[in-house]
Amino acid sequence: MIGSRKQKNRGSEVSSQQFSDRVLGWFDRHGRKDLPWQVDPTPYRVWVSEIMLQQTQVSTVIPYFERFMARFPDLEGLAAAPEDEVLHLWSGLGYYARARNLHRAAREIVALHGGAFPLEFEAVKRLPGVGRSTAAAILSLAAGQRHAILDGNVKRVLARCFGIEGWPGRAGVERVLWAQAELLTPRRRVDGYNQAMMDLGAEICTRGRPRCAECPLSGDCVALEEGRIAELPAPRPRRALPVKPVKMLMVLSPQNELLLEKRPPVGIWGGLWSLPECREESVLKAWPRVHLGRPGRVAGRWPIRRHTFSHFHLDIEPVVIRLNNCATCVLEGETRVWYNTANPDGRGLAAPVARLIDELKRYIEGEAE
Ligand code: ADE
Repeated sequence: MIGSRKQKNRGSEVSSQQFSDRVLGWFDRHGRKDLPWQVDPTPYRVWVSEIMLQQTQVSTVIPYFERFMARFPDLEGLAAAPEDEVLHLWSGLGYYARARNLHRAAREIVALHGGAFPLEFEAVKRLPGVGRSTAAAILSLAAGQRHAILDGNVKRVLARCFGIEGWPGRAGVERVLWAQAELLTPRRRVDGYNQAMMDLGAEICTRGRPRCAECPLSGDCVALEEGRIAELPAPRPRRALPVKPVKMLMVLSPQNELLLEKRPPVGIWGGLWSLPECREESVLKAWPRVHLGRPGRVAGRWPIRRHTFSHFHLDIEPVVIRLNNCATCVLEGETRVWYNTANPDGRGLAAPVARLIDELKRYIEGEAE
């Protein structure tokens, strides 16, 4: 199948040239060409967009990208900013390691490349948060360099079109997909081709209910011909996700300020502001005295809500704790603050925590009525 100009993968007889012509023809007629990062596709802007687009849809990314560029129009400004500000602009987009890596990478580019975004593939691939496909997308879209891409969407298009079996996350299957992607990538118009492949995967060759009637590859698609669209690509062999229960404490001062803690830099929500957590029922009552040196009482328990990560479910039970009369409630160190829920400031909050704070605000207003 690979190594010749003909793709002979169980029935798909399309040549690389025909394949890319069809993809580019579709791009000319239907591809997106006026997204904010396409208008002025500098390596810096395309890099930021590609990091935001990892695991996130275009429509979600657009307002985040625009706010980010308004605040950090160039790489030096991003490198010079405090991490908290970068995380704040990312708040709600999820996968916060992306924001921390982006910030670290900006600092590396200033240190190693004098602030100019590198245009050499290996140097781009070495940046924190940038893998092979992202480096290829950046350099093809921003500099017209010929590199094959293979994100999750493109894997789906190729697995279906060429009937490639197995879960694409498995190393052997991924190798076959990369080889196929390399073979198909044209020498000319690689920017349009790569953009079109990502768009086809995201909009036409969707996981459920693909729009095959609108697909330029439907005449050559093995999965369509064999009625195996629902089976390809093969799903990840599933293990049930473990469940971690946690109590999130909403500790309120008598002035209704909320205690927030900054999370350690690594692990889930690293570097974001969050609520104190407690696992054991037995230590709940003593928590305010042990951790703040003041008495308090459990004033409310809210229903459990589930937040699912790629590798576990976090079952969050919110618990409202009211501190008894502490006139000043002084906190020490830089990792704890009293937060005014009625007048939020610009700190990075994990999305479920931001939702809890919204609910808490309404709860406090309800109590005051
Ligand atoms: N996903 C990752 N990069 C993308 C891009 N440039 N366009 C659309 N979806 C994408």
